[in-house]
Order: sequence, then C-alpha cells, then structure tokens
Amino acid sequence: MQLTPEVTTALTRITKMRDQAFYWYDSNLITKQCRQFTAIPYENKSVHFATMANASPDFLRLTRNAGIKVFVNSLGHLQIAQYVGYSGRDIVFTSSGMSDSLLSSVRNSGAVLNLDSTSQLRRFWKLYPDAPVGLRCNIGDRVTPRKTRSGYFLGKDSRLGLDLSELEALAGNPFIEGLHLYLGTDIMELDYFRECYEVMTDLATLFPKLVYLDFGGGFGVEDSGGEHFPMEEYGRLVTEQMNALNARMGRTIQLLLEPGRIIGAEAGFLAVRVTDVKHRNGRQLIGVNASSAQFTRPLLYPDDAYHPVFRLNGQDGPLMDTSVYGCSTYSRDFLAHDIKLPEVEEEEWLVFSLAGSYCASSYTRFLGFEQIEEIFS
Ligand SMILES: Cc1ncc(COP(=O)(O)O)c(C=O)c1O
Repeated sequence: MQLTPEVTTALTRITKMRDQAFYWYDSNLITKQCRQFTAIPYENKSVHFATMANASPDFLRLTRNAGIKVFVNSLGHLQIAQYVGYSGRDIVFTSSGMSDSLLSSVRNSGAVLNLDSTSQLRRFWKLYPDAPVGLRCNIGDRVTPRKTRSGYFLGKDSRLGLDLSELEALAGNPFIEGLHLYLGTDIMELDYFRECYEVMTDLATLFPKLVYLDFGGGFGVEDSGGEHFPMEEYGRLVTEQMNALNARMGRTIQLLLEPGRIIGAEAGFLAVRVTDVKHRNGRQLIGVNASSAQFTRPLLYPDDAYHPVFRLNGQDGPLMDTSVYGCSTYSRDFLAHDIKLPEVEEEEWLVFSLAGSYCASSYTRFLGFEQIEEIFS
C-alpha cells in the first residue's frame, strides 16, 4: 500500500496549518464504501453502519447522506445517532446485559432491538408483554467457530447470543420478529459467511412472523497481502441465500447488515509529528506528539494491528528497524512496533494508514490525553 498523491496533498495542506496530531478522512471514499452496500442486488434490505467503528457526528452525517442507517450498542451511541437525524427503525440496537432502564430507553426510541439471552427476553416481555423483538443467535453448535481478530463470536468460547437449544425452545413464537448474527470481525473468506448464513436461513423457518434477518458485520479490510473484500461476490451470495429463504417461507424477509470497519478504515489516516528520535541497539525509536491512548489499536492488538506507516515528505533512504512511541511515560505507549522506516528527522510528519475505523472511536482517557481532532474533506 502507498499514500496516493491526492492523500499526500490533502494531508500536507493541513500540516501547513497545524502542529497537533490529527485524523483525516477522505469523505468520498466513505461514501463509496457505503454505496457498495446499497448496491447489493437484494432489494428488501436495510444497511446499518456500526458506530463502534466510528461514532463521530461528521462521520455519521456522511453515512446518512449515502443512504446508510445505523447500528448502535450503547445509549451514548444511540443518542449520537439521534443527534445526527436517525430515528425509529433507522437504528438497530443490539447489546448484552441490558438493564430495565436501558431496555425502556431503546424501546421508547423505536429502534429495532435484538436481545442477547432468554433472561433478557423474559425481562423485556415483563416490561412490554408480547412486544415484537429480535434475538442474537449463537449458532456455534451448527458451524465450526472461527477465531477472528477479536476472538470467538460463535460457539462455547463466545459469551454472546442464545444457543441453538435456547432458540429452538422458542420455535413457533409469533413475537420473534428478527434473528441476529455476528460472526466475527475482519473476515475475508466468503465460505464462513455462506456457512453461517445457511444456518440462519434454516433457523428463520422456525419463526412464523419473522420480519428480518440481521447478518451483522465482519467484512474484512485490506490485509498485509493487499487483498480486498470481494464485495460483488458477497452481494451475489447473500442475495441468493435470501431469495432461497423467501421461496421457502412464501414471503419476503428483510435483510439487515451492520458493516463497521469496512466503511471507513481505508478512508482514515492519522498524522503525527515527530518530536524525538533515539537510537538503541541499531533500532530507531521515534517519539511523536500523540499517544496510544489516542490511537489504541496497537495497544489492544499488539500482534496484529495493521496500519502501514509513511513519511509524509515521502523521502526514501535505507530502511531501519523502527518503533514509534507516544508522548507519555507509560512503558507500553507505542503507536507502532517493529516496522521499517528510513531515518526520520524531528518535526517531520508520519502518517498511519487504515486508521478510519476503531481508531478515533476507541480513544481512552487513560493517561489524560484529549481526543485527537478528526478532519473530513
Ligand atoms: C453486533 C455487531 N455488529 C456489527 C459490528 C461491526 O463489525 P465489523 O466492524 O467487523 O464490520 C460489530 C462490531 O463489533 C458488532 O459487535
């Protein structure tokens, strides 16, 4: 992967006007990614951007203008979604361990709600007898669960969803309006989607009044081999499976999708300024004006966060073993480990790519840093 001339020009223009680190997003690319989903041939669908990937209002305005709705898992994100103009069933809410007051807030918002367990269902129906609702499914007994970047989302190693026996015990219930699946994150292989969706379409036939199947997210983003998610093939696959289900059910079931990472990852960049350079045992240690508290992925995924780093001035030179560290005393404050860069100079800018998803949104107050400003153009 390389920085394109357009991205370099846009970032350089901003660095002329500021000292502090910033996130920059290519708005056109975000819109283009949304349109890949709205272009999926299956007609009765509703695509909901997963705000855990990026909950900034400017980001959500872009997804909204591109015809994408929203998926949230907390009251805070529900409120941001409402603030940018989403309402009612534009919003899908799926979470776990929900309190009565959270259940009521979500119910009152009119959002589509998916519950995580039979006791959450009991709790919900005690508050709202026989109100239609969706269920998160853990179909790990019918597929071989795969470990994805954040671990297992299906099977006995996942804490999430109702298992098959719990779902089958509810068969025939006319108040189950939806079934929800989230199979994992950053998945490139269509086979896993196919296998899991087949099980979900089977389960759908258990519920006579089912309105929707929510297949969640998990769409992979460019990996170190440069591979991209096969979006068109995916569109054909999900359309075929939904059409086959409709034929079995004798009516049309709505398809919901909750893409997160894929919508903004490639469109976002983090630009930081070099504030110090040290050399230790032949390694270059670069200090920058930001912290892993503001760019947490290398902290959360030390072994596999993949964010190629570039010198904004583009200069070449012999490559050195390099790590980039944050401006704190926290020993694990690294923004990149064991990468290769030419020798850099103080005051120049470095750019972290694939930084539009789960980066700004996973900021933590730990260490006392402000959130890094996000700029959209
Ligand atoms: C239920 C659910 N849906 C959608 C998403 C978005 O997933 P991704 O970013 O892998 O597309 C997540 C992410 O954790 C999730 O938990």
